[in-house]
Amino acid sequence: MNDIFLKACRREKTDRTPVWFMRQAGRYMKAYRAIRERYGLMEMFKSPDLAAEVTLQPVRAFPLDAAIIFADILLPLEGMGIGFEFHEKHGPVMSNPLRCAGGVESLRVADPEENLGFVLESLRRVRAELEGRLPLIGFAGAPFTLAGYAIEGGSSQNHLLTKQFMYNEPGAWNLLMEKLCDTLIAFLKAQVKAGAQVVQLFDSWVGCLSPSDYRRHVLPYSRRIFTELDREGIPSIHFGTATAGLLPLMAEAGGGVIGADWRVSLETAWRAVGASRGIQGNLDPVAMFAPVEILKSKAAEILNEASGRPGHIFNLGHGLLPTTPEDAVKALTDFVHEFRFTTDSCRGL
Ligand code: CP3
Repeated sequence: MNDIFLKACRREKTDRTPVWFMRQAGRYMKAYRAIRERYGLMEMFKSPDLAAEVTLQPVRAFPLDAAIIFADILLPLEGMGIGFEFHEKHGPVMSNPLRCAGGVESLRVADPEENLGFVLESLRRVRAELEGRLPLIGFAGAPFTLAGYAIEGGSSQNHLLTKQFMYNEPGAWNLLMEKLCDTLIAFLKAQVKAGAQVVQLFDSWVGCLSPSDYRRHVLPYSRRIFTELDREGIPSIHFGTATAGLLPLMAEAGGGVIGADWRVSLETAWRAVGASRGIQGNLDPVAMFAPVEILKSKAAEILNEASGRPGHIFNLGHGLLPTTPEDAVKALTDFVHEFRFTTDSCRGL
C-alpha cells in the first residue's frame, strides 16, 4: 500500500516526495496509441473497460504514486445540454455554444449516475484493480474553465466571448456558474463514492483573468465547491496555469493543495498560498525534452525549493505533452523517487 500521495495531500511528513503527472494517460505512451488507433476518444471515455485499462497503463509502466481516472473535464457539459466532439486537429468543438442568457436558462443540472455513470463505473473498476496499492484521483473542470469552453465553443486564445458574457450578462453568468457548481459538486461527490480518494479541480485557463475579475466573477463559485468538499472531508487539489498573480485568491477559494505552473518559482508560490496549504508542481512540461541530466537538475531545483516540507507533490506545471519521450517520464519518476533530503537541507517551515 503506497499512501505517500494521500499523506502529502494531508500535509503529513513522508520519507520521499510523491510524484504523478497530469495527462499521465495519453498519446505519449505507445500502449495508449495502440488502443487509440482502434477507438474514438469519446468511445474510450464511455467504455469503462477501455477507460480503466488506459488509466492503469502509466501506473504499470512507471513507479507513479497515484493513478488519475481517464476521463475529460468537458464530459459533464453533455449532460447539461452542451454537445461537443473532439476533432483531431481543432480539439473540442461544441455544437451549440452558449451565446445568450436564454441559452443558460435552458441548461440542465447534470445527474452523475444518469449522465456520467460511465466515469463512475470506470472509477469502481480501477479502484478494484488497484486493490489499495495506489491512491486514485478523480477530477472535474472548474466552473470558469468549463464556462469558457461552453461560451467560446472550443479552445480559445484570450477568452474574449467569455469575458464579454461575464461583463455584459451578470445575471446569466451567475446562473451559469451556479448550474455548473450544482453539476460539479454532485459529480465530485459521486466520484468519491465510486472510489476516488482525492479530487482535483482543473481551472486550467483561469490565468487569463485579472485578480479583481477573479475575485468578483469566479472565486465565490469555486469556493462553493471546495466548501462542500471540505464538509465531507474530501482531500482536494486546486489547479490552474499562468496563475502567479492569482495564487492567494485561489487559496482563498479553497483546496488543501494548490497547483502551480512553471512560470512562478515553487518558493514564491508557497509563500503566496501560505503554509497551511500543500503545493503541487511545477516543472515545465518542455523540460521533458531536455537531455536527461538537465531534466534531473531541473527536478532537483524544484525538490530543493520545496526542501522536504510536508505537502509538496511533484508534478509538471501542466499536462505531459503528446510527444514526450517515455524514457524521460521513467527517468524523472525514478529520480524523484530516489531523491532524499538530508536533515540539513530540510528546512521545514
Ligand atoms: O490526466 C490524465 O491522464 C487523465 C485524463 C485527462 C484527459 N483530459 C484526457 C484527454 C484529464 C485530467 C483531462 C483534463 C482536461 N481536458 C483539461 C484540463 C487539463 C489541461 O490540460 O489543462 C482540459 C483543458 C481538457 C480539454 C481537452 N481534452 C482538450 C483541449 C483536448 C484536446 C487537446 C489534446 O490534448 O488533444 C482534450 C482531449 C484529451 N483529453 C486527450 C486526453 C488524453 C487527447 C487524447 C487523444 O486525442 O487521444
